Amino acid sequence: MKRAHAVLAASVAVLGAFAACSSEPSSTAPSVDGGAPPPYDASTDATTPADAEVSFDWDFPPDFPPPRVPADNPMSAVKAQLGRRLFYDKRMSGNQTQSCAGCHDITKSFTDGRATARGSTGQAHPRAAMNLANVGYMSALGWANPLLLTLEQQALVPMFGDNPVELGLKDSEQLLARLRPDPVYVDLFARAFPGVADPITLENVTKALACFERTLLSGRSAYDRYLAGDANALTASQKRGREMFFSERFECYHCHAGFLFSDSTMTRLSKFYEVAFHNTALYDLDGKGAYPEPNRGLLEITGKPADMGRFRVPTLRNVAVTAPYFHDGSAATLSDVLDHYAAGGRTITSGPYAGSDGSKSPLKSSLVRGFTLDPQEKADLVAFLESLTDEGFLKDPRFGDPFAP
Ligand code: HEC
Ligand code: HEC
Repeated sequence: MKRAHAVLAASVAVLGAFAACSSEPSSTAPSVDGGAPPPYDASTDATTPADAEVSFDWDFPPDFPPPRVPADNPMSAVKAQLGRRLFYDKRMSGNQTQSCAGCHDITKSFTDGRATARGSTGQAHPRAAMNLANVGYMSALGWANPLLLTLEQQALVPMFGDNPVELGLKDSEQLLARLRPDPVYVDLFARAFPGVADPITLENVTKALACFERTLLSGRSAYDRYLAGDANALTASQKRGREMFFSERFECYHCHAGFLFSDSTMTRLSKFYEVAFHNTALYDLDGKGAYPEPNRGLLEITGKPADMGRFRVPTLRNVAVTAPYFHDGSAATLSDVLDHYAAGGRTITSGPYAGSDGSKSPLKSSLVRGFTLDPQEKADLVAFLESLTDEGFLKDPRFGDPFAP
């Protein structure tokens, strides 16, 4: 019944095998403090034969390369349509009160506006719901999980996970029994998975969800128009902020790299497995770099002390609408985020973690050095981050609620 756990347990074995050879220099390590990339497994290479999707209209934003797509789950318009319906369907939760969209709201680039998410039974999730813009390119899914490599796998976690409960489904039968009598699903599953006797299965639910998620492409912001040659697309302040973002003084672009502003992305053209986890010094509870449980980053899965506080770099596309920020929602605004980086690590003066001084953490990334930031510079950097909002994506009818009246 706990399929999600089975997936994770199987993956832990893989990770163990990798750890055994992690002392070898790795040509796949993408950045200076990138940490251990997960194993590259050729047998699960997610490259799709081009002919499997000739008829699929991706509608790529300018200069977006194709994402990886598993060979056994080719893209199709009707499958994406089915996945979208499932994504918004409250029957996807045990008590039928919450859908994926309950925590992934399109108007907030598929985040929920909360510091930390809340599941269908009211249980608090320890971490913040993540931005799903361009999620089909992320090379490992979750804030700090090197084991969740495909969207198909990932979907099982919110569906069946019990620590914390998100959708809180009891088992697959609970869901499938609700979908089978619905003529809309009978039709959609049959067309999305043609030639199969009983297409309404858990595997096909996750395939359809993943197919829909791969269509969530967002790359038509003011910044993209500027890159495409429209010199007036950015304000003077945003242009100054852009210079700062890509400068050695501020270092942002080393980790927020590439067309999605994250160094853990891959495309169909990628030759190596690219994933990285960094400690940005949000916490140092004990002078040795400790983060509060259960949010200690990569260490929660690898158990390695050096992985304390290491998190995957989130995309910055649409970041102006995804507040609050960080894995635990502990920064309310972009201004707060910049204060943290300027200080070279956060000092906490009140609440349960008072006394924590991240700037002295022995585990912090060498790229989080701190810098001075005058009010104009701060406004410029925030303005640049605001230029990354793709307004059309946030109200794209192709990605909205199909149940809406
Ligand atoms: C209770 C709120 C909640 C619900 C419901 C929910 N999610 Fe999430 N989602 C989260 C949180 C929190 C995270 C971060 C998880 C972590 O790292 O521990 C997340 C992360 C993700 C990610 C990883 C994104 C990335 O960039 O790595 C994907 C993909 C995702 N969710 C898809 C889904 C799908 C599909 C569903 C429905 C089957 C769903 N979510 C239901 C809260 C939710
Ligand atoms: C060492 C790598 C690194 C550098 C350098 C870096 N970041 Fe980050 N950034 C991260 C990681 C990792 C996270 C997630 C941290 C967490 O949640 O614990 C993050 C989170 C963020 C967030 C919050 C995003 C969200 O969805 O919650 C913003 C905004 C951000 N960074 C902007 C910047 C800016 C601006 C700079 C330059 C001043 C910068 N970052 C420099 C790695 C880095």
